[in-house]
Parts: sequence; C-alpha cells; structure tokens
Amino acid sequence: MSRLLTTGIRRPTLAVVGATGAVGTVMLQILSQRADIWGEIRLVASPRSAGRKLTVRGQETEVSALSEEVFDGVDIAMFDVPDEVAAKWAPVAAARGVVVVDNSGAFRMEPDVPLVVPEVNPHAVRSRPRGIVANPNCTTLSMIVALGALHSAYGLRELVVSSYQAVSGAGRAGVETLRQQISLVAGTELGTSPGDVRRAVGDNTGPFPEPVALNVVPWAGSPRADGWSSEEMKVRDESRKILGLPKLPVAVTCVRVPVVTTHSLTVHARFQDTVTVGGAREILATAPGVVLFDNPEAGEYPTPADVVGTDPTWVGRVRRALDDPTALELFVCGDNLRKGAALNVAQIAELVAAERH
Ligand SMILES: NC(=O)c1ccc[n+]([C@@H]2O[C@H](COP(=O)([O-])OP(=O)(O)OC[C@H]3O[C@@H](n4cnc5c(N)ncnc54)[C@H](OP(=O)(O)O)[C@@H]3O)[C@@H](O)[C@H]2O)c1
Repeated sequence: MSRLLTTGIRRPTLAVVGATGAVGTVMLQILSQRADIWGEIRLVASPRSAGRKLTVRGQETEVSALSEEVFDGVDIAMFDVPDEVAAKWAPVAAARGVVVVDNSGAFRMEPDVPLVVPEVNPHAVRSRPRGIVANPNCTTLSMIVALGALHSAYGLRELVVSSYQAVSGAGRAGVETLRQQISLVAGTELGTSPGDVRRAVGDNTGPFPEPVALNVVPWAGSPRADGWSSEEMKVRDESRKILGLPKLPVAVTCVRVPVVTTHSLTVHARFQDTVTVGGAREILATAPGVVLFDNPEAGEYPTPADVVGTDPTWVGRVRRALDDPTALELFVCGDNLRKGAALNVAQIAELVAAERH
C-alpha cells in the first residue's frame, strides 16, 4: 500500500516487532490514537503468533513471524521484544537500512546508541551511527520528564529514589500472575499470619520472586554486584545518560507492588542552589508532558488507579526537604506501558520520521 502525504512524500513504512506483547498491545492503541503519519504498518512477533489478526488504525492486520525479509521496504521498526531477541534482530534490521527504535535493555548503555526522551534530549536522536535508537526502561521514564524540567532550571546534583512498580512492567506474564493470585486470596482472611498468603498462592510466583498479591516485594530484575538489582542499576545508569550527568550520585530501591499498570516513585532530588516549592510548582505546571496534581488538603495527588491509561508524568506531594533547602521531595506516577514504553517509542519514531521532510 502506498500512502502519500499531501506534499507527495511517501509515508514511511513502520514495523512493530513484538506487536502481541504487553507493550506491543498498547503500541497498537497509541498508533491508532496519534496523528497518522505512517504508510503501511507491519505487525511482527514470534512464529507462535504468525497468522494472528490484530487491529491497528481500525484495520485488521495479520501478524508475521520475525524474519530478515519482514524488514524489506521498512523505514522504521519499533522493537518491543525481550533483550536477547532485540540483541540479535535489531542489527539485522539496521543492516537492511531500517532505523530501529528499541525498547529492550539490549543497547541502552552502548556509547554509540542514543537513549532518547523527546521532552528531555530530543537532539540525541540524530546521532545514531548504528541505526539504533534506544528507549529507556519504564521506571526511569516514569520520572525523567519531570526531573529533566527541574534539572534545566535548577541543575540536578543528587537523586534518591524508591519505586512502587506495577506488575505489567514484567510483561503479560506479570499481569496474569497478579490476576491469578488475586483470585486465590479474594474474599479470604489471608494476610494475618506469617506465610498464609504464600501458602495460598503456591510455589509458582510467575516472574516475581515472592507473592505479589497482598504484598510488596523489594526486588525487581536480576542480581547485580553488592546487593543491587538490575532494575536499580538501570535507573541510575539511564538517568545519568539521558540527563548528560555521567557522575550524578543516584541511590535507588526498586519495589514491586500489586498494581496492574502505572509505576510510582518517591523522589528526593538535590539541586545546585536553594529551591522553592513555588518555583518548582511553576516549572512542573508548565513543563511539556507533565501534570502537576498537588493539593493534598483537597485529596489531590496522583495514584496509579487514576493515572493508568494516560500519557503524562503526574507529579504531586511537592515539598522542600525539611533539612536541606536545596532539595525537593516529590511523588511521581507514570503509566509504564504508555510513557514508560510504547508512547516514548512512538514519539522517537515520529522524530525520526520528521527528518524525512
Ligand atoms: N512492560 C513494560 O512496562 C516495559 C516497559 C519498558 C520496556 N519494556 C521492554 O519491552 C520489551 C517487551 O516487553 P513486554 O512487557 O511487552 O513483554 P511481553 O508481554 O512478554 O511480550 C513479548 C513480545 O515479544 C515477542 N517475542 C518473544 N520472543 C520472540 C522471538 N523469538 N521472536 C519474535 N518475537 C518474540 C512476543 O511474541 P509472541 O506473542 O509471539 O510470543 C511478544 O510480542 C522487553 O524488552 C521489555 O523489557 C517493557
């Protein structure tokens, strides 16, 4: 199908690799909701899904199995697949002239792959010697737009962060696990004696090391040196790269909570000079992609139950640190499948597509 813009420029052909996954599913919704700049949209997944029909832009589209040929004629490919699949196939697509926007962790920290958040470092997208642009991980993305705005004004000097991460951060399997565990504990008196929840949900805790229903789990990802988790290292390393602050001190504790979608974070951010709550509020209230929702006396602060399904980064509970006039305390919520994944990828792909004009 050849779709022409009114200017006569051929509309770019897009491939969505991983179209059947948790992120891919939201990507198809986002592509149906945003300005339609694309020509053909090709849907790709594993051979397990080949032949399935999914709807994008109101059209039923058949899923193809990932192969070299699937990239023929493609201009831009979004990769929403596991790390090892992206590590193998993104270079294959790039070698065929496709610009890859990769949502996995495979390339984020490679020095010759830009890590892009369009509201914070859009210029970085143009420098992609390997034809690959990386999308940050969902926990970093859920806070970085708000932090980028504050950093521009005040100069960030240190970050201390705790996350409250939704189960969909672990993909479809994470959501299925929570729903199944909720059905096992619903309507019971469980949660009153040691181990009762664990016994009720059984040994199969899906992608999580512990039961997640009626619980919080102070662990996300895989082990890294000195007791840190991979998820914690990602928040530190990726925040530094996106903000262009390679030595920024960052302390992170990542925690999984029984929320389906939307990551929340408490943030202690220390800046170069004294900050004021009024100044911070003004910056956050006018920053693109941020909604300031902060009036606790009126019960106004963001929570995942209200933020899920929305695009912005929501910020509430803005306070100046009691013992440090250069630091702010914030509570931030962002939908991990939208801005935390699919939306940011779509925005990057749109930046790349705009270069053609
Ligand atoms: N979930 C989040 O909040 C989030 C946020 C940011 C980034 N990410 C990253 O985004 C990527 C996708 O995550 P997800 O949560 O959407 O995972 P998911 O729900 O498990 O979906 C995985 C997708 O990858 C496809 N896939 C798996 N193995 C494949 C193979 N060998 N060849 C081709 N396709 C294959 C699957 O296709 P089938 O259906 O055919 O198996 C499915 O479409 C991961 O790298 C993840 O780390 C996730």
